[in-house]
Amino acid sequence: MIVGSIKEDLSLEKRISITPETAKNIINLGLKICIENDYATHIGIQDEEYKKVGVEIKSSSKEVLNNCNLLLKVNCPSNEEIFNLKDKTILIGILNPSKNQTKFKEILKKNINIFSLELLPRITRAQSMDVLSSQSNLAGYRSVVDSIYEFEKAIPMMMTAAGTVPAAKVLVIGAGVAGLQAIATAKRLGAIVSATDVRATSKEQVESLGGKFLTVKESEDLETEGGYAKEASEDFKKKQAEMMKDALKKNDIVICTALIPGKPAPRIISEELVKLMRPGSIIYDLAVEQGGNSAFSEVGKINIVNGVKVIGVKNLMNRLPLTASSLYAKNLFSFIRNLYNKEKKDFDINMEDEIIVKTLIKEIE
Ligand code: NAI
Repeated sequence: MIVGSIKEDLSLEKRISITPETAKNIINLGLKICIENDYATHIGIQDEEYKKVGVEIKSSSKEVLNNCNLLLKVNCPSNEEIFNLKDKTILIGILNPSKNQTKFKEILKKNINIFSLELLPRITRAQSMDVLSSQSNLAGYRSVVDSIYEFEKAIPMMMTAAGTVPAAKVLVIGAGVAGLQAIATAKRLGAIVSATDVRATSKEQVESLGGKFLTVKESEDLETEGGYAKEASEDFKKKQAEMMKDALKKNDIVICTALIPGKPAPRIISEELVKLMRPGSIIYDLAVEQGGNSAFSEVGKINIVNGVKVIGVKNLMNRLPLTASSLYAKNLFSFIRNLYNKEKKDFDINMEDEIIVKTLIKEIE
């Protein structure tokens, strides 16, 4: 059985799906690997490193697609790549089913089994495969680093002979995976950190990282049974906006990460609220691709409103592709290990396994 991977569209995506480290692990399972030449040279990994661990290098993506039984990708393949992919292959990636319905129909016509890993259930056994968590964690870290780069003051308190520099204040909105890492990163860099969330359980997590939790007064807990947030009522939104008025005036950097699965991002910072912030402040909106938590945030832009920089970055993972790839490739290896049956020497699509059932795309309406 051959696992293959080809270059992504490098103008959009720098991450890769197989690193030399995970190649070795996949080969140790009893599988073969082939990749396209110059597969990862754009991030400094030469073909030689893959050859050393036993990977076969093919001279074109077409050769890989014609030969592999399982294709690992970051994003959904292009129409040409789908055309070249063998029938009955297995395709695994972060394939964005809702955006790629037409392509999925074509892929399914070739009897290809598609696994889209953003659909993984958040159960203990799937933790090592959880691509959303591994990538969001990095997004939280990087959002703070980027904000600091754009902020024109120092972050930690500094007592110098020339006078004392006060510590910067960072507010994190949404204390999920990205938010908690943003809190930890800002704390490590010496900021005074506060955070808010609609789930009551997040208070303890924020406090354990040294952040101050801001509670929306007299509000109910908006956590679902699955541990995610549900949509807030109009009454809640009003109370949250009141709380934000005060918090935004006091903070220098605001990291927005609020998300409700399957819904547009909740709008938490209105135009009026942005204008209450001090000039020189930063809003970094990680939710920008889902519509944004803040007014004035736009994908791929820094908008300056009354001296406040509102930042919306497109595909943040391209700013740390080596780390993002290393974790993503490990997630994929864990998924393959679960899918591959060593005794049968074949992939086993076991429909009694919750991980398989939830990630497999069976049909597109
Ligand atoms: P998550 O689901 O782990 O966390 C979201 C948090 O927002 C939850 O704790 C939820 O309770 C909270 N929340 C929901 N509504 C809220 C409200 N009205 N007020 C306050 N908190 C609220 O999500 P995760 O994985 O941390 O992702 C956060 C955002 O970062 C998402 O929009 C995601 O798409 C984005 N992201 C962007 C990346 C990029 O490359 N640009 C990469 C990874 C994540």
